[in-house]
Amino acid sequence: MASTAGLVEEAPAAIESPETQPLLSRSNDVIQQEKPILLNLVTGTASIAQLGIWIFTILIWCKILSQPIILFTAHPLLAISGLLLQIQGILILQPTTTASEKQKGTRFHYIIQLISTLLFLSAFIVIEVNKGTHPHFDSAHGVLGLLTIIFIVSQSLFGVVQYFLPRSVLGSVENGKKLYKYHRWSGYVALLVLEIPAAIWGATQTGYSINLLHIPLWAVVIPGLAVVLGVGARLKIYKLGLGND
Ligand code: HEM
Repeated sequence: MASTAGLVEEAPAAIESPETQPLLSRSNDVIQQEKPILLNLVTGTASIAQLGIWIFTILIWCKILSQPIILFTAHPLLAISGLLLQIQGILILQPTTTASEKQKGTRFHYIIQLISTLLFLSAFIVIEVNKGTHPHFDSAHGVLGLLTIIFIVSQSLFGVVQYFLPRSVLGSVENGKKLYKYHRWSGYVALLVLEIPAAIWGATQTGYSINLLHIPLWAVVIPGLAVVLGVGARLKIYKLGLGND
């Protein structure tokens, strides 16, 4: 297993240059100096993302638990909880710059993403068992959901290889570090085009949701947008391999 310290990236010297500013906002910029790492979950526009994901999660939990409890009940509860943890795993790492912050943030990130991946996999197993011999992946939500699960498992394996097994699988720690930006890119893109849309579709567009839950589209689209904006405004483009590195 590679040492954590050996994998920490250097904070770019040009961190205050225009290329490294967050995409949407300068006033909410968060450059943390040895504050408790958990503050990263709420600093700057993280609070907007938190508001969005907690409203989304509480809404789904309340609506689902107001229905009779059956095997299916576990599917949305597990899936939305997995998404809630995914957002925490992203928010904790976004503002990290020093080696010690990155080390602490990364430890939190991989533990939380492991639990999130297990929750998504459990949600998947529940719905597969629940559907039994009925047709599978025959709705937009089903297809998006399947792609989401495949992506999340692959992304987690990608993270494990680049961080824990860079020498044995990729040849060197440096080769592992070169992949960090692709891991970030794929994580952000999937959040935008797979994970949030799958949850929105599941909550509002399946036969079950339309007939029983009666959640208006706006009630999940607005929290979903809050997550996208809250997370998007904290992007640092140098961490995506753009601008000065
Ligand atoms: C990102 C979160 C979610 C993922 C990854 C996901 C994944 C999936 C998958 C893969 C299926 C298809 C199973 C099959 O056809 O064999 C499915 C079905 C289903 N899901 Fe989800 N789901 C998520 C969130 C939700 C939520 C929040 C709800 C409801 C509030 C929900 C309700 C349903 C229902 C009713 C079905 C059965 C109908 C259908 O297949 O379209 N899901 N889900």
